[in-house]
Amino acid sequence: MPLNAIRGHYFFAQKLDIYRSLIRPALFRLEPEKAHELAFGFIRNSSFALPFIRRMYAHKSSDKVRIGNITFRNRLGLAAGLDKNGEALPFWDALGFSHAEIGTVTPLPQPGNDKPRLFRLPGAGALINRMGFNNLGSAIVRENLKKAKGKISSEFITGVNIGKNKQTPIENAAEDYMKCMESLYDVADYFTINVSSPNTPGLRQLQDERYLGELLSSLKAKNISLAHTIKSSPKDIFLKIAPDLDDGSLPGIISACRENAVTALIATNTTVSRPGLGKETNESGGLSGRPLKDLSDNVLAKLYNLRGPSGSDMPVPHLIGVGGVFSRSDFENKISNGAELVQVYTGLIYEGPGMIREILDK
Ligand SMILES: Cc1cc2nc3c(=O)[nH]c(=O)nc-3n(C[C@H](O)[C@H](O)[C@H](O)COP(=O)(O)O)c2cc1C
Repeated sequence: MPLNAIRGHYFFAQKLDIYRSLIRPALFRLEPEKAHELAFGFIRNSSFALPFIRRMYAHKSSDKVRIGNITFRNRLGLAAGLDKNGEALPFWDALGFSHAEIGTVTPLPQPGNDKPRLFRLPGAGALINRMGFNNLGSAIVRENLKKAKGKISSEFITGVNIGKNKQTPIENAAEDYMKCMESLYDVADYFTINVSSPNTPGLRQLQDERYLGELLSSLKAKNISLAHTIKSSPKDIFLKIAPDLDDGSLPGIISACRENAVTALIATNTTVSRPGLGKETNESGGLSGRPLKDLSDNVLAKLYNLRGPSGSDMPVPHLIGVGGVFSRSDFENKISNGAELVQVYTGLIYEGPGMIREILDK
């Protein structure tokens, strides 16, 4: 086929927006977790379609950003929770993201909470989930990430978001995070310490001053010792926080990050509040998507103001914004509130992969 005709096909496919016109209506007829399994089944086995996907979603952004020791090829990535086990890295790479955050991974495999545990609120552009860290455990995720290495671009960044098993008491949580780091050390470009998911009982207590400093300092020491054993520099550590913290706790979180060499703060996880929602649902769990956006943007702006300028005697944490990004203007709001990098999850479910190009093609 002549080159112009091939280009014409891509252009036509882009304009048609197959996701919004055909795929989403079909998926949204299914129960949400079934739709996820079906779509993810395709994504996991999409290697035959990757050249097409790469062409179809090619964008022009070369807005690189350096966070700690890592260069991200653009400012947009996949948030944690969609690819819990690191099974689809080549797909996220082909869509044009700079990075994907795998997980949350726990040391041991666990099934998560009983179903149903994922709920769609189409009128609000939102999801509620109480998945409860369903994942295959760090050993299998390690194998998945090792297998993916040769199939992704060298500049594509793999973050691993880590947590504790449900049965592990909060007092022993640090051991679970350390086990995950140890098992995944040579396959992760960075680690995110997840202390903010609402669906693991007690987890969010780790954001309290009495736990956080100790947790981060144990992880810093572990990071240095693991780096030493493989003769590399320590990995960048990010900390992901909830949007439901009171303002008074933010300065303590920033200090704990500065004292323990945390490279970046990710704001935010899902919320247990129900901003702007009426009687759409009374399901418990974390709310994500459009109703979360202002809450997350506010946390980001507060962190930016509290953090102070960079270049002082101790480095300040970089900021990564996540929550309610559905469009280029939502993305720009995050950047103007202080984010250097932005992540998406729920927007991708509602808007489809075309949103990545819409955001980055500028
Ligand atoms: C179904 C679902 C599962 C999620 N699982 C995780 C998780 O395992 N770990 C985590 O740190 N965040 C998890 N998140 C939170 C997202 O990473 C993100 O912080 C949040 O959804 C806000 O972004 P969004 O509005 O773009 O979805 C999950 C979100 C959803 C919707």
